Amino acid sequence: MFAKWAVLCVSIVPLLPAQESSMAGAPSGLRCEYLADPVGIDVPQPRFSWVLEHAARGESQTAWQVLVSLKADAPAGDQWDSGKVSSSQSMHLVYAGKPLASGQTYYWKVRYWDSGDRASPYSAAARFETGLLESADWKGKWIGGANQIRKEFTLPSRPVRARAYVAGLGYYELRINGRKVGDHVLDPAWTTYDKRVLYTVYDITERLRTGANAVGVMLGEGWFKSRALRMQIHAELEGGQSVDVATDGSWKTMPGPIQSDSVYNGEVYDARLETPGWDRAGFDDAHWKAASLIDGPKGLLSAQMMPPIRVVDTIAPVKLTTPHPGVYIYDLGQNISGVVEMRVRGTRGTHVQLRHAELLYDDGTLNVENLRAAKATDVYVLRGDGSLEVYQPRFTYHGFRYVELTGYPGAPKFDTLRAKVVHSDVRPTGGFTSSKQVLNQIQRNILWGIQDNLHSIPTDCNQRDERMGWMADAHLYAETAMLNFDMPAFYTNFLRDIHDVQGADGTVTDTVPHRYGSRPADPAWGMAYPLLTWYMYEYYGDRRILEQHFDGVKAWTDYLRTRSRDGILDYSYYGDWVPIERTPGNLVSTFCYHWSADIVSRMAEILGKGGEAEGYRKLAGEIKDAFNAKFLTAATGVYGTGTQTAQILPLFLNMVPGNRRGAVFGALRDDLVYTRNTHLATGILGTKYLFPLLTSTNNSDLAYELATQTTYPSWGYMVENGATTLWELWQNKTGPSMNSHNHPMFGSLGAWFYNALAGINLDAAKPGFERVTIAPQVVRDLKWATGSLDTIRGTVASSWSRLDNGLRLEVTIPVGSQAEVRIPELGLSPVTLSESGRAIWKDGKYQSGPAGIKGVRDSGGVLVVDVGSGNYAFALARE
Ligand code: BGC
Repeated sequence: MFAKWAVLCVSIVPLLPAQESSMAGAPSGLRCEYLADPVGIDVPQPRFSWVLEHAARGESQTAWQVLVSLKADAPAGDQWDSGKVSSSQSMHLVYAGKPLASGQTYYWKVRYWDSGDRASPYSAAARFETGLLESADWKGKWIGGANQIRKEFTLPSRPVRARAYVAGLGYYELRINGRKVGDHVLDPAWTTYDKRVLYTVYDITERLRTGANAVGVMLGEGWFKSRALRMQIHAELEGGQSVDVATDGSWKTMPGPIQSDSVYNGEVYDARLETPGWDRAGFDDAHWKAASLIDGPKGLLSAQMMPPIRVVDTIAPVKLTTPHPGVYIYDLGQNISGVVEMRVRGTRGTHVQLRHAELLYDDGTLNVENLRAAKATDVYVLRGDGSLEVYQPRFTYHGFRYVELTGYPGAPKFDTLRAKVVHSDVRPTGGFTSSKQVLNQIQRNILWGIQDNLHSIPTDCNQRDERMGWMADAHLYAETAMLNFDMPAFYTNFLRDIHDVQGADGTVTDTVPHRYGSRPADPAWGMAYPLLTWYMYEYYGDRRILEQHFDGVKAWTDYLRTRSRDGILDYSYYGDWVPIERTPGNLVSTFCYHWSADIVSRMAEILGKGGEAEGYRKLAGEIKDAFNAKFLTAATGVYGTGTQTAQILPLFLNMVPGNRRGAVFGALRDDLVYTRNTHLATGILGTKYLFPLLTSTNNSDLAYELATQTTYPSWGYMVENGATTLWELWQNKTGPSMNSHNHPMFGSLGAWFYNALAGINLDAAKPGFERVTIAPQVVRDLKWATGSLDTIRGTVASSWSRLDNGLRLEVTIPVGSQAEVRIPELGLSPVTLSESGRAIWKDGKYQSGPAGIKGVRDSGGVLVVDVGSGNYAFALARE
């Protein structure tokens, strides 16, 4: 379709030059701190980003202007008028207007000037709202009590603007005048509560009314394992008055129907103990107790500036069986994170039980062995007043595909249960599909695996008694997550979480927040700190993140240095975890130490810290030399014990002495292809770095064979065995102990789908996709592949298919970006290349003409096309 569009624009423009000024479209996709119209921003100088729109190819921004105002209808710049600023930057523009006030809504819009200095129209107005910027703005006190807390208050006149600021631990549900406020669940995000507690801001203007109002808060234990509430309401009224309602000793408390709640074990809800009307005005709470003032967690209150956890989908079961009388098993057909919603009618006091699991035994009954100590059981006790009762637990979630229903009065039906999918609501931004079915199923499993494990932190699994922010798991699937979902706000928050656990000695921990594992982290786990920081820079061009975490990443690297001897880092707990063949821990740790030093050096370079850049470059070089001296047998090209991972890691980071690269790679290839019959023997680390290594060494065919294997060990083997997510282990285990069936760490492969098969690659020298390389790998029996990605600058897409004796490739590059498109000649030379029907390479030469194309050259079997922004349709054919 876009081929047609391109032809249209090329032919119309010369005829109608007057149209040119309108070709620069109004900027779209306005973001403040990565969020669309955020409510509750507490950074003093938030940053703005926008996506440029332009009808012509090869376009860019030469200047911009932002207006920020307190007025909604037409931001006129009363808070900030940047004026026309000459700059190509369209991301992370730092607010530089009047100091921001707490609890204030700001409206902003932007326009830009294109390469011909033609102004675009202004964007539609976006807005952002500040949270409470000073701790003195917090009037509410920490209070505690039972799991229901309430307060009534009166508004003398009509509310015109009202907000609630809520920090409720472990989890809360806010209710006003009889109804839940907002759509967050399992709020707030899990943090190190003694360092930081996140609060959420709600617009409650429509929920309040003149006269008596009531606020009710239900509290769950969550990860806090206790209950605490700090909140306040600020209501501005007609006539200029305002009313503040804040938590203090005058709030009342009483246990509600939730008898117990636990993330791992589930919820027990006795509907007979409901207190109808408690969240409405006029309720008689004379027998309720006064809430107590408590010390509360010590952490700083910060605004939750990330996508919240929500119910993102509802799915119906696909199968209902009865393995024993009275025992009903529902199969959702998909392993998910969430809870079920149940419908029931029956006698008062009837106990209905819901148990959740990933697996069934052969006889069709529930297999909960791999949940370890997590009970994953919800119990509902009926009110029994004759009405239909609908139950959905509030303060727990489970990882499950199967639900066992027992104690149900009568015979349940298919629609008795529906599953609610619950996770951090990160927007899908990409898509990858291909002609190979097994890859599409793996991609599907990767997407489910990752989403199921985004629960305000990146978790390792979602079902057993863990669900921790294990740091290796986090960095291993981060790039795949960034290619498929809108992740920057989520990782900005998680990096702050990492910083919050860092010790004065520079140590970080295996899990963040730190519950499980050790301090100091295994070096391969601690690697999440440098790597996530660096990915935020590469994928989103976020320099502020580099500034914020430079000292922290450096301190972690310096800590590793104190533990090293002669350049070798000996300590390791897990190393290349869950492999087929184990790699020496000190080899993995020293590799990570080298990489950390290298990243510190690169960060220092970008931040203009020349001395430190040089110092850490030197350190990285010394570690590399020590690594080679200790682990490389030069004659054979074997590192350590010669495992695949031992060979992969130094090759991936270019640590191998130049004249030994061939031998080291040869040993790896032999092991993959012959010793293992084209199968992996890697754990989680080796697996991630193998695929980009194979592609960068022109071995994409081999990478493809490995990625599409269907026998053990492989992703296809999981698919063959009915997996709908990713397993923790290559093996198909179903007994007790460690074998989660929803562990996203092997999802690292998903990045390779975009980078190699669709061919979309960023360039760290021009981060945030300012420079893109499109290099599709046309491999083996793959007939077509397509990938698209909403980057921070706009859509990058690449889609190819084989033609008889040729190739078709469609590419989209956002305004403001440049790309190098590498089109393989597929051994068809001599070839011609055309774009939207016009030749651009013929008789071995570049043919100029089509807009946006700057040149074509032949680079050893690949035609390299330099393009600016726009949509392109290339066709390669034998001449
Ligand atoms: C977790 C992992 C984690 C590992 C550390 C496991 O129990 O589920 O994914 O990284 O422990 O070895």
